[in-house]
Amino acid sequence: MKRMQTYWLALILLLVYAEASKILVVFPLPSRSHANLGDGIVRHLLNAGHEVTYITPFAYKNAPPNLRTIDVSSNFEAWPVHLITIKTFIEKADSFANVNMMILMVNTIMEHTYQNKDVATLLNDPKENFDAVIVEWILNEAIGGIATIFDCPLIWMSSVEVHWKLLSLIDQPLNPAYSVDMMSTSQPPLSFTERVSELWTQIQVTIMDYFIFDKMQDEVYQKYVVPAVKQRGRVAPSFYDMKYNASMILANAYVSTAIPHTMPQNHKYIGGYHVDEVVKPMPQDLKKIIENSKHGFIYFSMGSNLKSKDWPEEVRVSLLKMFGSLKQTVLWKFEANMTDLPPNVHILEWAPQQAILSHPNLAVFITHGGLLSTIESVHFGVPIIGIPVLGDQHLNIRKAVKNGFALKVDLSYTMADELKKAIVEVTTNKKYAEKAKELSYIHHDWPVKPGVELVHWVNHVIKTRGAPHLRSPALHVPFYQKMYLDLAAVLIILFLAGRVFLKRAYAAVFSKTKANKKKTH
Ligand SMILES: *[C@@H]1O[C@H](CO)[C@@H](O)[C@H](O)[C@H]1NC(C)=O
Ligand SMILES: *[C@@H]1O[C@H](CO)[C@@H](O)[C@H](O)[C@H]1NC(C)=O
Repeated sequence: MKRMQTYWLALILLLVYAEASKILVVFPLPSRSHANLGDGIVRHLLNAGHEVTYITPFAYKNAPPNLRTIDVSSNFEAWPVHLITIKTFIEKADSFANVNMMILMVNTIMEHTYQNKDVATLLNDPKENFDAVIVEWILNEAIGGIATIFDCPLIWMSSVEVHWKLLSLIDQPLNPAYSVDMMSTSQPPLSFTERVSELWTQIQVTIMDYFIFDKMQDEVYQKYVVPAVKQRGRVAPSFYDMKYNASMILANAYVSTAIPHTMPQNHKYIGGYHVDEVVKPMPQDLKKIIENSKHGFIYFSMGSNLKSKDWPEEVRVSLLKMFGSLKQTVLWKFEANMTDLPPNVHILEWAPQQAILSHPNLAVFITHGGLLSTIESVHFGVPIIGIPVLGDQHLNIRKAVKNGFALKVDLSYTMADELKKAIVEVTTNKKYAEKAKELSYIHHDWPVKPGVELVHWVNHVIKTRGAPHLRSPALHVPFYQKMYLDLAAVLIILFLAGRVFLKRAYAAVFSKTKANKKKTH
């Protein structure tokens, strides 16, 4: 009874003292996995008692009371969904490898977001106010202007592991001698040519940003942000001042698998926060299949953006035949019906992925290597076989292979044989599962859970009005000063001047002695 009273007292105190803040969360990319990350943030903030407004292309069916959603499903019109299919990539592996094209596409999405009627209403209503704005960073900073409108701290949420371009927003770019670009195929330690290539990438991207992409983003900023700021009676800062004014970066990466770079104080790892604390139970029929799998089961999913029905028919048939030859049960997340299923293969139109990954009978997870899937495999400690398709998936899988809990299989018309070999290797050689368990241990052996950390740092930024004490002193030091190019210039001038001086002095002395010699003769 006493205990009960204390509990209620604690709860009441918590309700009285936990100050609710108003937070705007902006995840405009029309992609299910990015929305999962946004949903995770919203869930933690709501649980912490905050009032959340959420700009998302995936409208909620039953929004909880403290959540207001702003539907930007109109962004789907600006996204070439029809191009992102397995068939496109099986035929041309590097269809989206061009980062410049992605930057253009994302900028269009951001412009669409500003143009959305409901977003425009929100941004231009002087009665609307927020204590912080959390925006997903994806190759675009113009969208960060939303925080400028509300004159409140901006927090970037990065869906991928830290890279030089992201860090340059709050600190300085990582050294290309030991860190790679997010689109790079290299893996540190780097060879001479790889180091040169990474340096060249940084130079090239910086030049492209300066001459093209920053101007393009500035246009969006001038068009949608500046007038909204004016309307509130303030003068808008320049695009550059806004771009380098974020209070914090929250990165969806794990310390256990990320490269342990030295980080500025306002970069925080919160990878894994999107995973449910208590895994939701799976449907009975699925549970029965899994528990009856005498030799364990294999889970195969290419994520939510790539639709399985787009597998070319011949590949689908060869994969199915190969799966049929295995002793394990196979669960294939496939969004269409199949009539020619072998007895050990089951099709799931929708898969409760976390529940599946947490089951001890799981032998291996075959995945496209999306960041969420790779993170979840580390969370639950399961080995993977990666079939990367686009974007950061290649990088995630390369890293997983290097970390020792994965094998990679290339997407191709004849991949079934190679995939079988990989399945046999991962399910018979214990080292992959052991490594996955080890990384999972490292991940969970942390003083606070990622969700708790997420809420803590958002509160900290709000309470300290942008956490200026955490900002890196390197951010505003110009490149030439960091590199001591001014000192180098002074030394070169001194050296040249000295040389001229010595030359003259020498010439003077020499001609004098010559003259003297002449005189004596
Ligand atoms: C930078 O952000 C702070 C809040 O964190 C805000 O008060 C300030 O006006 C912003 N400055 C610029 C130049 O955007
Ligand atoms: C597959 O078949 C079931 C039952 O026949 C049906 O309910 C379901 O809608 C079908 N799914 C698809 C994607 O065609």
